[in-house]
Amino acid sequence: MSPLPTLHQRLGIALPILQAPMAGAQGSALAIAVARAGGLGALPCAMLAPEAMGEELATFRAATSAPLNVNAFCHASPEPDPVAQARWHEALAPFFAEFGLDIDAVPQGAGRRPFDHQACDALEPFRPEVVSFHFGLPEADLLERVKAWGATVLASATTVAEAEWLEASGADAVIVQGLEAGGHRGMFLSEDVTTQMGTLALLPQVREAIDLPLIAAGGVADARGVAAVRALGADAVQVGTALLCCPETTISGLHRRALQSEAARHTALTTLYSGRPARGIVTRLMRELGPMAAVAPAFPLATAAIAPLRAAAEATNSGDFSPLWAGQNASRCRPVPAADVIAELALGV
Ligand SMILES: Cc1cc2nc3c(=O)[nH]c(=O)nc-3n(C[C@H](O)[C@H](O)[C@H](O)COP(=O)(O)O)c2cc1C
Repeated sequence: MSPLPTLHQRLGIALPILQAPMAGAQGSALAIAVARAGGLGALPCAMLAPEAMGEELATFRAATSAPLNVNAFCHASPEPDPVAQARWHEALAPFFAEFGLDIDAVPQGAGRRPFDHQACDALEPFRPEVVSFHFGLPEADLLERVKAWGATVLASATTVAEAEWLEASGADAVIVQGLEAGGHRGMFLSEDVTTQMGTLALLPQVREAIDLPLIAAGGVADARGVAAVRALGADAVQVGTALLCCPETTISGLHRRALQSEAARHTALTTLYSGRPARGIVTRLMRELGPMAAVAPAFPLATAAIAPLRAAAEATNSGDFSPLWAGQNASRCRPVPAADVIAELALGV
């Protein structure tokens, strides 16, 4: 009897290395580079309108016949809450005054879209081989549509309970996201950040609890990290921060410089930039309001009022109000091609 295919064989990739989808930080260029290097490229869709998703997918398909992971968020859109909004604006008012900006002119808008039928319509013609979700899974009818085109479904878990829920709810493999990870925590069963564990603690506990293939994410940046999570039961790794300074990403020069500086040694979870906990380099906004201040409105409503502050500060070359997403291990953030980062990680497979 031939042995069961490994996860990466099932996904159709040479290496058990997945590029983390990073909304707002990359598009098809990074996915193409990683795919050509033998990993699984990813296209984050949370901040893209359906037309833009189609364009990015077409670019990827024209460049390579490798499989693609398309990533979406599945949060519930919050009800408008004028009281919470007023409190948020009040907290930000001194900063608006400092820049001479009008807080009443803040545009309305969510900033990040949950996965819906419109997004599904845009993806379906391309039949992405892998679809991954952050913040749980979409409604059953949407999940069925994705599975009907043959996609392998991945989803992030940040606790043992979330991994068990994903296994019971139809995920094909689980991304185990440790607390070191950059960007948004995928947490969806609890809002209590005391439930969140580092990769070293979480991964073996999830390995004991469920039978699905596991992908370790959070703090993996080099060959030793890959070997370590493989030893703890991971079938593959997902790497984000270590790829952020590659020329194929779309982050600002300011973000790039911060990642390669002493500042990157200071990261924290913050709700201020979106409404949900996410890890980034500590900024003035985080220091002055407190990174987890209760005054931030529900995800994703915090983003709109931060945008004018961010733009005004960035115009003076300051990242004081910018979400400088980064994980705890930025040691490999360098301006080298993504293929080089993948080649280094592959030494630990
Ligand atoms: C800039 C940035 C943006 C991210 N955006 C997403 C996203 O859109 N969807 C998602 O599932 N995960 C997102 N993540 C989290 C990654 O999938 C992954 O969990 C994380 O990068 C792994 O930890 P590491 O950053 O230490 O490698 C993002 C991470 C970063 C650093």
